[in-house]
Amino acid sequence: MTVARLARRGRLAAPALFLFREGRRENAPMVERAEGLSDDDLRRFSRRLAGLPPPAPPPEAPDPGRFARGRALAGERHCPVCHNPDFSGREQMPRLAHQREDYLLKALRDFRRGTRIGYGGAMASELAGLAEAELADLAHYLAHFAQPSGPNAGMAGAR
Ligand code: HEC
Repeated sequence: MTVARLARRGRLAAPALFLFREGRRENAPMVERAEGLSDDDLRRFSRRLAGLPPPAPPPEAPDPGRFARGRALAGERHCPVCHNPDFSGREQMPRLAHQREDYLLKALRDFRRGTRIGYGGAMASELAGLAEAELADLAHYLAHFAQPSGPNAGMAGAR
């Protein structure tokens, strides 16, 4: 099962729990757990999660080729416009930096297949025309995200 890291998801946690509660996002264990939660419960969870420290990058170094392809794609597709240049997320746009790679890939596949709809369907159109391997490279890049700095901007050496 692919499970997300929940710390520092900005204000996303409440909307995500809302979608589970309303049965608008597919994931049986989450739908079951969100059932019966009040709007106040959702807001309380959201505040608790927002106060946790952000997740650390994974211990293993990224594959340089996949990292570079993912970074180029993210730039071409303007992912940072909504998710922030450091992928820390804002408002209803979730944090992507250092999220688990398997979770990111599942999310991207589900958006593309239309099984995760979200609010406005923005993500499905952002991913239009991308191949499976490109989604995997994007997930790899985001899971290992490093701030560009110095001559190896954004590469493994930056952290
Ligand atoms: C127009 C704004 C916008 C752009 C551009 C955008 N996103 Fe998103 N993204 C969103 C919103 C809004 C959500 C939350 C959707 C939801 O769950 O309902 C989201 C969710 C996600 C998620 C799910 C994260 C999680 O924790 O569940 C991933 C992964 C993601 N986006 C990756 C990307 C990538 C990669 C790109 C570039 C190809 C991109 N996004 C471009 C708005 C955007």
